[in-house]
Amino acid sequence: TEPLRVAIAGLGTVGAGVIRLLDTNGELIARRAGRPIEVVAVTARDRSKDRDVDLSRFKWIDDPTALAVEADADVVLELVGGADGTALALARAALDAKKSFVTANKAMIAHHGFELAQAAESAGVALKFEAAVAGGIPVVKGLREGAAANAIDRVYGVMNGTCNFILSKMESEGGDFSEVLAEAQAKGFAEADPSFDIDGVDAAHKLSILSSIAFGTQPAFDDVAIGGIRDVVAADIAEAAALGYRIRLVGIAEEDGEGLFQRVHPYLVPMAHPLAHVSGSTNAVVAEGNFVGRLFFEGAGAGDGPTASAVVADLIDIARGEFGPPYAMPVTVLAKQPPAPTGER
Ligand code: NDP
Ligand code: HSE
Repeated sequence: TEPLRVAIAGLGTVGAGVIRLLDTNGELIARRAGRPIEVVAVTARDRSKDRDVDLSRFKWIDDPTALAVEADADVVLELVGGADGTALALARAALDAKKSFVTANKAMIAHHGFELAQAAESAGVALKFEAAVAGGIPVVKGLREGAAANAIDRVYGVMNGTCNFILSKMESEGGDFSEVLAEAQAKGFAEADPSFDIDGVDAAHKLSILSSIAFGTQPAFDDVAIGGIRDVVAADIAEAAALGYRIRLVGIAEEDGEGLFQRVHPYLVPMAHPLAHVSGSTNAVVAEGNFVGRLFFEGAGAGDGPTASAVVADLIDIARGEFGPPYAMPVTVLAKQPPAPTGER
């Protein structure tokens, strides 16, 4: 059987994690996918960097856009990051060349996902981004496919592993904010620019993607009201605990009758609520559907293994020919929906 040939741009935490996962679970994946998944070409900024994976097997193409077009690949996998620039040029080039496109890049999907979905649909290829929201948790599929028959009233949760790692570590060990942030960076949880994490922007990227799936609207990142955890100090955490709460950075989106309310903010979560017990880099997303009731998705929200696991699950779907729509409905239908209205309150 023909392998699914993959070109990878970006060999950092997630990119190297994907290669390690394919090396370790390759046979099991081939059985489940019905054919092997084979990396054929790669790129990153620095060819000489030691990444703890053997890259000599793969063709190296310096220019990421050239990789998208020239590599003999069925799928281009983007693990570079950034809403625009290299990642967006690569995405457009890959879809233009009628290659399926997989990414973990929530910033790009939040800003340009609709355009890319239109390009994928007209090219007849797949666009997949399971890893972009909540790392290893299959929440994009869970909402788009598992809850497809439901009207969703509300989707909310802890969507940033770095912030949750910082808050829970300050809670349990009283550590200093910047020291714990440095630890999260060393573990590979944080974005290249960690202000995206601690200022709530990364969670807002993810929330706007989840909203688009839950409510059948185009992602509306600019309508998310955003607050972060930069100003949370150990005393806030101690005071909250004394009152029976934990501080969690929560993203919440809900239809309030007048529009779609989207907000990311540090909230006081009562100890009795399951979100108060989501610790470390774990994420959790709650969705409330009119027939299914409350769905609770929990798992590792960041890091190489969990994120690579979501990326490779997307590759397996493509290997099986399961392209599916990126959002809750085909973009031809989504384009006719009114843009996501925002309800301020
Ligand atoms: P890293 O910073 O670890 O890796 C980024 C990779 O992209 C590096 O290999 C880097 O090259 C390469 N790169 C950067 N700029 C360029 C460029 N201009 N041309 C070619 N290559 C370039 O990031 P992560 O692996 O952590 O994240 C990758 C993506 O996955 C991001 O979109 C991130 O938001 C997303 N993500 C990350 C998660 C995580 O837990 N880390 C979880 C979920 C999603 P070099 O190594 O040579 O510098
Ligand atoms: N920086 C992100 C986080 C990575 O900490 O959640 C996972 O998307």
